[in-house]
Amino acid sequence: MNRVLPATGLVLVAALLLAGCEKPPPQSVQRGPRGTAMVQVYSPAALADAAVHNAAPEPLPPASPDGPRASQVYQNVQVLGNLSVAEFARTMTAMTAWVAPGQSCAACHNPANFADDSIYTKLVARRMLLMTQKINTEWKTHVGNTGVTCYTCHRGQNVPSEVWFKPLQDERMNTFAGNHAGQNAPADSVGLSALPSDPFTPFLLEDVGIRVGGATALPTGNRQSIKQTEWTYGLMMHMSKSLGVNCTQCHNTRSLSSWGGESSPPRLTAWHGIRMTRALNNEFLVPLTANFPANRLGPGGDVAKVNCATCHQGAHKPLYGAPMAKEYPGLLIAAPGNAQGSMSAADLKVIAPMATISTQAPAPAPAR
Ligand code: HEC
Ligand code: HEC
Ligand code: HEC
Ligand code: HEC
Repeated sequence: MNRVLPATGLVLVAALLLAGCEKPPPQSVQRGPRGTAMVQVYSPAALADAAVHNAAPEPLPPASPDGPRASQVYQNVQVLGNLSVAEFARTMTAMTAWVAPGQSCAACHNPANFADDSIYTKLVARRMLLMTQKINTEWKTHVGNTGVTCYTCHRGQNVPSEVWFKPLQDERMNTFAGNHAGQNAPADSVGLSALPSDPFTPFLLEDVGIRVGGATALPTGNRQSIKQTEWTYGLMMHMSKSLGVNCTQCHNTRSLSSWGGESSPPRLTAWHGIRMTRALNNEFLVPLTANFPANRLGPGGDVAKVNCATCHQGAHKPLYGAPMAKEYPGLLIAAPGNAQGSMSAADLKVIAPMATISTQAPAPAPAR
């Protein structure tokens, strides 16, 4: 009897340990020089999950590009005026399906007067049109010719499922334990690790350096703080999780900081992606804060913001690279200053100038 008990215990422990194993087993792909430094591990189950999430809807049947322009026919068209009336209507139909299916045009319009701008969702949607055009025309360093549509982020929902808010300031800043800066409380944003839960404010809103290592062997002048290091790892966890990849998708883990010849091409795309995401938040989402009703804002009153997961949702390319955008000419023309030029000066003013982006590898870390 006293021998059966430990045996049962052993079986139980073994069963518990095995319960943590994935089924079917993960597969690995060598992405760089042999060795473990650039191996990519895939979980077939996670891939199947992401595939369901990332199926692109069929484009609507094409509309005639001929006939009068929308700006000639309608009263209050500031962004899409250059489209034919047929293409304009097609774009409205697609937008309804992408952000407000089941709600009809009234999700944004006063049914008595479609030119009326009194419903906040219409004002927000107009800015979203400009944002989408800007992504597709000025951030090709990140989105290439694949581009984005409203569906890339919204996926049939009013509010995209992946957005972020600033957490409330820690209230216990003056206690013995100090401010734990969102650490040691497993947060989904950083892959359930004990890293600080908000790597987004410093990197995807503010422009804090994403750096860990010093440039020299001796501790001479490396000013990167431990907190910055932890934020960096937190952001990296978020990036890996959002794209459904390992660190080795971008890095040779032999040396995480080195670019030259050791990082893979997606790392450069990601570098531009970080800058693009930061620009979207600062140029489009934050200036919209006052347009949203309180129930759409975060606990501290900030607007919902974009991170890598907003578009990627578990796939290395959103919707696995389905080129949806090219089906919708209204989303591909350049934002303000596009051919029709019907943006008013006031509208132009609220759009902050774009940060110049380089197509080259980023400059080496500043001297420290
Ligand atoms: C997600 C929000 C949204 C939805 C849903 C939507 N619209 Fe619009 N609609 C807009 C925006 C924004 C504009 C202004 C576009 C511009 O300034 O270029 C607009 C403008 C219009 C106009 C021009 C009105 C005028 O005289 O100035 C018409 C007509 C229109 N929409 C029809 C529709 C129809 C029909 C539907 C439903 C199939 C629809 N819209 C659904 C956001 C939306
Ligand atoms: C890069 C991601 C992204 C893209 C692309 C995008 N949106 Fe949004 N959208 C957001 C975020 C983030 C919010 C803020 C969420 C909230 O409402 O609190 C938002 C909010 C909105 C809202 C307000 C919804 C509500 O009920 O409060 C509308 C309407 C909207 N978007 C329409 C559009 C349209 C139309 C397009 C395409 C022309 C578009 N969006 C493209 C990210 C995006
Ligand atoms: C999708 C590509 C991508 C993935 C996946 C990724 N990284 Fe990064 N990583 C980058 C880029 C780009 C930078 C540089 C950011 C910058 O300078 O703006 C970076 C920077 C870093 C740095 C700072 C290096 C320095 O110069 O001090 C570390 C450390 C790091 N990554 C670790 C990781 C770890 C650990 C993982 C996995 C959890 C990971 N990364 C996943 C793209 C990636
Ligand atoms: C506005 C939507 C959007 C956001 C936000 C976004 N991406 Fe992307 N990303 C895309 C699109 C679209 C592509 C596909 C580009 C192509 O096909 O060339 C892409 C491609 C990539 C690739 C290249 C994939 C490959 O296999 O070649 C990487 C890496 C990447 N994104 C990382 C990131 C990271 C990291 C972030 C957050 C800092 C981010 N992205 C935020 C839309 C987005």
